[in-house]
Amino acid sequence: MRLQARLRQLKSLAGPFAPFDTASAPGDPGALFLTWLEDAIAAGIREPHAMTLSTVDDDGRPDARVLILKNIDANGWHFASTKAGPKGRQLARQPHAALTFYWQPLGRQVRLRGPVAELGREVCEADFRARPPAARAGALAERQSDVIARDGEVEAALAEQTLRLERDPSLVSPAWTVYALDPTEIEFWQASTDRQHMRLRYRKTSAGGWSRDRLWP
Ligand SMILES: Cc1cc2nc3c(=O)[nH]c(=O)nc-3n(C[C@H](O)[C@H](O)[C@H](O)COP(=O)(O)O)c2cc1C
Repeated sequence: MRLQARLRQLKSLAGPFAPFDTASAPGDPGALFLTWLEDAIAAGIREPHAMTLSTVDDDGRPDARVLILKNIDANGWHFASTKAGPKGRQLARQPHAALTFYWQPLGRQVRLRGPVAELGREVCEADFRARPPAARAGALAERQSDVIARDGEVEAALAEQTLRLERDPSLVSPAWTVYALDPTEIEFWQASTDRQHMRLRYRKTSAGGWSRDRLWP
């Protein structure tokens, strides 16, 4: 079968899904996000805290990759990475991004957009220290997304950084950064098997509250 036909016969948004009563949604989208995240965890969805981070490069071209949600607080939605790699460079030049969550078994998508800020060194260092040793050694090499020039290069660098960490377990990569996206808009999207998907978009108002709109599916 040709790919086009093969793709068309795959099911999408097959459900069944819970209805989304937008009228009774809370005024604070953060509260709704936490409810949906807890629903995803309770549903046994694997990596419910995985999300796509979209950024733009110097030429205004989009780039995207999956990251792990680290926390949510007054600063926004946290994620952590090295600032020495592509996403870090892109965020340094254009500190705006989008985050997208998709919880497939629930037919739910959440989209956030907003400015991104680096959190203080204390937060970054605490996040770094909480990572498993292999992840810390990898980050200490500070080569994420570099081209591998020769065989064995990665293994040698990891061995060297593992040794450094063993000698000094308090070592922290200075490039390791926790970022927070402070959303200016958040959209909650609930699939419906009749294709009348429910969409609720919150937008931050100049007074610091939130306005809400339902969107066409
Ligand atoms: C499920 C999953 C979780 C990931 N979590 C992270 C993360 O928290 N931080 C990170 O830097 N990269 C994470 N990655 C790797 C990124 O997707 C990406 O490959 C890497 O950060 C390099 O991105 P860049 O070249 O755009 O800077 C994760 C990948 C997957 C599939």
